[in-house]
Amino acid sequence: MADDVLFEVVRQYACLSPVNAISLPKDISNTVLQDFLVKELLEDQHLKVYPPSQQYQRTFWKKIVAHLERTSIMPEDEEFEISSVIYDHYLGLLNPNNDSSGSSSFVGQGPPSKSFVTYFWKAPGLTSSERFLKTTLLESRNMIESGTTGLRTWTASFVLAQYLIDHPDVIVRKNVLELGAGIGFTGIVASAIQVLAGQDSSNPNKIWLTDVEDTVLATCRDNVDLPCNTSSTHGGVKTQQLDWYAALDENRRPEMVSLLHRTLDPDVIIGADIVFDPSLIGSLLATLEIALRSTRATFALIALTRRNPETMAKFMSSAIERGFTVDAVEYQNQHISFLPHLALDTNLKDVKILRFVSS
Ligand SMILES: C[S@@+](CC[C@H](N)C(=O)[O-])C[C@H]1O[C@@H](n2cnc3c(N)ncnc32)[C@H](O)[C@@H]1O
Repeated sequence: MADDVLFEVVRQYACLSPVNAISLPKDISNTVLQDFLVKELLEDQHLKVYPPSQQYQRTFWKKIVAHLERTSIMPEDEEFEISSVIYDHYLGLLNPNNDSSGSSSFVGQGPPSKSFVTYFWKAPGLTSSERFLKTTLLESRNMIESGTTGLRTWTASFVLAQYLIDHPDVIVRKNVLELGAGIGFTGIVASAIQVLAGQDSSNPNKIWLTDVEDTVLATCRDNVDLPCNTSSTHGGVKTQQLDWYAALDENRRPEMVSLLHRTLDPDVIIGADIVFDPSLIGSLLATLEIALRSTRATFALIALTRRNPETMAKFMSSAIERGFTVDAVEYQNQHISFLPHLALDTNLKDVKILRFVSS
């Protein structure tokens, strides 16, 4: 039991769960707790290379130091002293000269800085000797950064990735096109699913991660190539610029049709949280229509977060007008494994996966 709680601390720290949502085990001595934290958080090779931002760590380690100073719950805690490894690490975080995050302000003020974020997940039914797999991304921690929503991972992306883990047949031995892929979370998980399912590494399927923004695509490429991610060895994960507006522009449309039908030629199309702006609906649906007319494409799965009823109504009526058949996919998304605190995310209940078929 204590082991499970301790492991949850690792998962929560690695994916930057809100520090106040992290529970520390109550039934172990401070010595056991701090030995675990030193070994699994400070000495862990993965977290040394891909650590949470210094800004996050300051808040986390402040909580740990306060906890260790305050509590002495077991008889053996009477002689307890906080490890110099933890103190030194915490003091290092408080030194502004050591702050490599590029954050304009210090000690918790100002916007959150970019961070490596590591998501642990399980792959039931897929072959893996490890208890958990990991996917790591360099992410913005802001809703909007550099004028785009694409530099962080959104809840719909976690739901769609979990759906693909639970239904690997959707993408295994298939060429996949992702629209509005952002910094790559769903596509990177999809590539791991294909590898776990034993795809032919000499002739890998293609996973096309597309987006409009250069900065987003560059970060996506970097994330795909992180040596810790299976996507770096998959061999078929491509990033590609694709602007939905080209589908409505008679000068740019032929090039888009050629790209989608000849070069990308997907079997299945996916997208997460790409229905968020009413002004994008027409161009997104026009793109989907072209993509679904490629020779092999059968259907598209779009995970969306219902934030605004009018946007949703406009999206659904425009899709029907364009002749799509749209069905809600039955999926209980309550067991999303990536974020231990995701159950607290009020957005989760608003995420739906829609299946699009072209007429
Ligand atoms: C809310 S983000 C979702 C990112 C990612 N799928 C996720 O769920 O984490 C929306 C994405 O759509 C992309 N996008 C917006 N307008 C676009 C357009 N005209 N063409 C292609 N992608 C676009 C953005 O750059 C951004 O990455």
